[in-house]
Amino acid sequence: MITLTINGREVQTPRGSTILEACQRNGISIPTLCYDPDLRLAGSCRMCVVEVKGRPLYAASCVTPAESNMIIETDSEGIVAARKVILELLAARHHFNCQVCEKNANCTFQDYCYQYGIKESRYEYGHGAIYEITDPNPFLERDYNKCIMCTRCVRACEEITVARAINVKNRGHEAKISTAFDGNLADSPCVFCGQCVMVCPTGALTSRVSAGMGRSYEVDKVLTTCTYCGTGCTFELNVKDDRVVGVTSDRTIVGSPVNKGALCVKGRFGWDFIHANDRLTTPLIKENGEFREASWDEALDLVAQRLGEIKTEHGPDSMAMFTSARVTNEENYLAQKFTRAVLGTNNVDHCARL
Ligand code: FES
Repeated sequence: MITLTINGREVQTPRGSTILEACQRNGISIPTLCYDPDLRLAGSCRMCVVEVKGRPLYAASCVTPAESNMIIETDSEGIVAARKVILELLAARHHFNCQVCEKNANCTFQDYCYQYGIKESRYEYGHGAIYEITDPNPFLERDYNKCIMCTRCVRACEEITVARAINVKNRGHEAKISTAFDGNLADSPCVFCGQCVMVCPTGALTSRVSAGMGRSYEVDKVLTTCTYCGTGCTFELNVKDDRVVGVTSDRTIVGSPVNKGALCVKGRFGWDFIHANDRLTTPLIKENGEFREASWDEALDLVAQRLGEIKTEHGPDSMAMFTSARVTNEENYLAQKFTRAVLGTNNVDHCARL
């Protein structure tokens, strides 16, 4: 451990920590935008600047190693003034249409603008929409008029999803997050996992599937496990008025051991089946080539009767059970138990075996 002084208080942190980590360990809050503990450091937004005694320039705390006996101020007048300028610079290319933004009230950039009293920017960049929102995919809204170039989406795509669908195109004022040749996401290696939506600290990346269905403060978040496959990813169903209106995931809230907040396209965006009008809600029995509705008792009796007839006529080994990774371990266990103990055969297989 090393000892340093932050805001007049002596604190300790493991050798090798950054100043930001030293602050976080000791309950001192520092604003960050490009920092994400799961991603490689970028040090690009500079919101996390702090004053280090004896150094002529403010240091970005997320990329500056903490050293023994350092004296640090995180909230001095100068630091607050610097953060205001940084926010203004970022706001210069940020389209403030918060009232209709899907991220309103759930936006880190908005929170900092509120905290530091930034209503507009002195710097010219356009102060409005410049980029068209044209990507035709059904899942992600990409509004680069709200992008602050923190590159968290790029790093998440590269380091967590390993799709490498996007990167920074051009430099300086012309910099923009883009696919190769600025094409559509569907023509890129993007797998629409939505990891970029999860890490975006502004309204630049949002879910189209949930658009207009509820503000973050209107929904109840219900922790659950994805049913699409046997991986067992954890996420939160966003529920408003007893209806699912979205899925969110966040390793810090959920602490999900399997996926650490990461999801695939099905888990993150494929929830609309829950309230689909054509979803089956009763068993169907086929008679004369047509389905008719039946009660569970009637349907199960029919299945039991038919399986019994097949067993008597052709023997147990004429039947087999093929189960799925899309059901739970308990259901798979029951399926094999039923096959062995009731049907009397060991013909059991599973779609995930190969
Ligand atoms: Fe440190 Fe962005 S959070 S530079």
